[in-house]
Amino acid sequence: MRTHKCGEVTKKQLGETVALCGWVHRRRDHGGVIFIDLRDREGLVQVVFNPDAAETFAIAESVRSEYVLRVEGVVRDRLEGTVNANMKTGEIEVLVSHIDVLNESETPPFPIESDIEVNEEMRLRYRYIDLRRSEMQKNMRVRRDVTRNLRNFLDDEDFFEIETPILTKATPEGARDYIVPSRTHENAFFALPQSPQLYKQLLMIAGMDKYYQIVRCFRDEDLRADRQPEFTQIDIETSFMNEDKIMDTMERMIRKLFSDVIDVDLGDKFPVMTYAEAMRLYGSDKPDLRIPLQFVDIAEDMKDVDFKVFSGPANDPNGRVVALRIPGGSNLSRKEIDGLTKFVSIYGARGLAYIKVNDRDAGLEGLQSPIVKFAPAEVWESVLTKTGTETGDLIFFGADKTNIVNEAIGALRVKVGHDRGLAKGDWKPLWLIDFPMFDWDDKNQRWNAIHHPFTAPSCSTEELQANPGKALSRAYDLILNGCEVGGGSIRINKTDMQSKVFEILGIGEEEARDKFGFLLDALKYGCPPHGGVAFGLDRLVMLMTGSASIRDVIAFPKTQTAACPLMDSPAAVSDVQLRELGIKLRQPAGNKEEKES
Ligand code: AMO
Ligand code: AMP
Repeated sequence: MRTHKCGEVTKKQLGETVALCGWVHRRRDHGGVIFIDLRDREGLVQVVFNPDAAETFAIAESVRSEYVLRVEGVVRDRLEGTVNANMKTGEIEVLVSHIDVLNESETPPFPIESDIEVNEEMRLRYRYIDLRRSEMQKNMRVRRDVTRNLRNFLDDEDFFEIETPILTKATPEGARDYIVPSRTHENAFFALPQSPQLYKQLLMIAGMDKYYQIVRCFRDEDLRADRQPEFTQIDIETSFMNEDKIMDTMERMIRKLFSDVIDVDLGDKFPVMTYAEAMRLYGSDKPDLRIPLQFVDIAEDMKDVDFKVFSGPANDPNGRVVALRIPGGSNLSRKEIDGLTKFVSIYGARGLAYIKVNDRDAGLEGLQSPIVKFAPAEVWESVLTKTGTETGDLIFFGADKTNIVNEAIGALRVKVGHDRGLAKGDWKPLWLIDFPMFDWDDKNQRWNAIHHPFTAPSCSTEELQANPGKALSRAYDLILNGCEVGGGSIRINKTDMQSKVFEILGIGEEEARDKFGFLLDALKYGCPPHGGVAFGLDRLVMLMTGSASIRDVIAFPKTQTAACPLMDSPAAVSDVQLRELGIKLRQPAGNKEEKES
């Protein structure tokens, strides 16, 4: 049908007759001449119709946006003054001698211009049209480049690509499961995998040595810009490698990926930081290192002040009091500070105290703040010194339970840092290590696994048992610009340790056998030391394309409420199907009264 793609025609084809297929992007009638920008995946090309060729001209007059055309014509130079240097095809045009209308199109629900705002519901309902926009075409291309690059790397490093089941059993990754009823096994359900975690471990026990899979994972959890209910992982597992070797291999993979696909040098060795350090300096286990602002703990200074808001948390073992210096921040207006106070309240902060430092050398006189009166000059002097504050700076304060301070001031740090243009550098990768094994769930009075329950601790079973809250894990996360792009760990490969972890998590022997009996058995048959990692493909591509949401790099994403407006799913199923599956709805659709009676 065609000799070239639209976006590929350049001066190289001058004088040649080409055949092109594509969509009518734009049609312009200019003093008897018709110009059409014809579009395909590779881009746009200008095709021209002269009235001398009456028949083709008449057809060209009748075409509308998004008609699908096939044209034949000669490639020629554009007239002086009409050359478009920003376009790959901008130096030439095609003088059409023959046109076929391959298909007509109704007026699309929105124009195919990337710079026109269209509401997201609309974009997703007509996703096949939305995907025609150049930005989406670019995103899909980067996604293709990324998977191809990663596959090449992993294939070259001798990893086996192996598929694992989608119909499976619950895998605990911390979210709710999507479940699928079984017709052949009454009252029994499959779960869709939250990740292939247990299968990849079984593959190591099976001697597959190095595995990878670009795989769909399913998690029923609250959605955000960087979370989808189904998303794709680059899932990896290796045998006989320790964490340093795994991190080193993965770092080479990611560095090559960025260099090959978007020509970005991620620098030398990625920095490594412990969880404790990250929480201390940034209140976050995924710090955005582009922002140089750091927390400074000032509980020691605030223990005896006459201001309960500060002295309370300063004396509470579960409390934290921090200062965050904003260089040059004293020009923040009252309105801006009120806005930020509202912002931190989303994270549970009950206020946002601040001090403007109008003159660092003028003692109390130089400080402007409603809270200065609550503490003596020495206290503020100590705070100013610890934070390295200078004239013209502002200090924000957070005082509350540790987790509230971390979340609120952590988010404030990122927001103020970006809003005030304090971010430095474009790409800041970071390995985070030495996570705690567990955190204590006060409400339910139990330990939760910080990663998943198959993560190996860096201590013995005895030490783990004696002090679960102190135990660190052999896990590592890769953080890029404040986004967790990947996470993994060395796994438990001995039954006694695995049983101990289940026990600490409150999973009784019977439940452990019921849920994970296959794993506990498998660990007995020569399980090699092994470990791995999984990267969020969508998040990587989101960062690499500079997209605001992972929805922009997924061809058919779900909405914020986990629905698909295009297919209109999830949807009701017929009574016949339900009966076959042995399912009776508690609230039959459209039959509320029956339920209530
Ligand atoms: P984890 O749960 O940390 O680890 O997931 C690995 C990576 O997957 C991405 N990710 C998501 N991306 C989009 N939407 C989501 N809902 C979502 N959830 C996670 C993140 C994350 O870093 N089995 C382990 C890995 C291992 O231990 O090897 C796991 O799944 O980028
Ligand atoms: P108040 O005495 O409650 O009016 O608070 C005085 C100042 O402290 C105000 O600027 C509040 O925004 C701020 N503040 C109140 N609670 C906290 C808190 N938990 N952390 C930081 N600042 C707070």
